[in-house]
Amino acid sequence: MTEAEYSALKKVADQELDKAYIPYSHFAVGAALLSADDRIFPGCNIENAAFGSTMCAERTAIFSAVAAGCHQFKALVISGRTESAIAPCGACRQVMVEWFDKKMPIYLTNTSGKVVKTDLDHLLPASFEDLK
Ligand code: THU
Repeated sequence: MTEAEYSALKKVADQELDKAYIPYSHFAVGAALLSADDRIFPGCNIENAAFGSTMCAERTAIFSAVAAGCHQFKALVISGRTESAIAPCGACRQVMVEWFDKKMPIYLTNTSGKVVKTDLDHLLPASFEDLK
């Protein structure tokens, strides 16, 4: 993961904040996922009047990549207009387990310069994967 790759992902994740469909929460989340073959998949949260049908930004990016045939990934950047670096919800963490290596870098960021580099070992220890 080079500095240039990180910068490209961060730019896309930040741009996604303006694409988030958030008429209910007004809480934007952006994501950018780098595939093993160097494609960047963008993601934003997409809400629904039936709240439970809302899709998170991280899963939008992951499912879009999988729908395009990508199952191997190098890095994920998540961005929020939050005070702290934004953290993914539990459902997204479990979805990440399906495809991400436990040590794959996941960058939690905000739009004010905070960056926390982490991975699934830290975000979701003891995840469910018995059926994998
Ligand atoms: N949200 C995400 O996009 N990712 C997360 O990991 C947590 C929450 C979205 C869902 C909803 O549109 C809004 O943030 C408030 O929960």
